[in-house]
Amino acid sequence: MKLIKSIVRPNKVDEVKDALARLNIAGMTVTEVRGHGKQKGHTAIYRGKEYNVSLLPKMEVEVVVADALADEAIKAIVDAARTGEIGDGRVFVFPVLESYRIRTGEREV
Ligand SMILES: Nc1ncnc2c1ncn2[C@@H]1O[C@H](COP(=O)(O)OP(=O)(O)OP(=O)(O)O)[C@@H](O)[C@H]1O
Ligand SMILES: [Mg+2]
Repeated sequence: MKLIKSIVRPNKVDEVKDALARLNIAGMTVTEVRGHGKQKGHTAIYRGKEYNVSLLPKMEVEVVVADALADEAIKAIVDAARTGEIGDGRVFVFPVLESYRIRTGEREV
């Protein structure tokens, strides 16, 4: 399994969610986060000096999927979240060793 952790624009979350639903991905976790990428958030010029104004609000979408589904899921997320402008977000992919459903104790590898 893989954990696909995506940081996307808040107004793209629904499209990402729908794209993942079309792949029958069973679960996801969505969290409000703040951050910046390589442009270091918004900048503003004050008295001739450039300042970092903020950590911008983003949404983090986490999905754990079977290895065989990962590439398709990543493509679906990237296509759904892209506007083509800076700040569209990032996708990070991690290996997942095990997962347990607490209700049943059932283990997935
Ligand atoms: N290296 C990183 N580590 C952790 N989080 C990151 C990293 N880069 C970006 N992020 C997260 O992703 C969000 C969106 O990043 P952003 O889209 O600006 O990335 P970027 O690499 O600067 O790409 P772009 O040039 O398209 O803006 C950030 O607000 C931050 O939450
Ligand atoms: Mg950026």
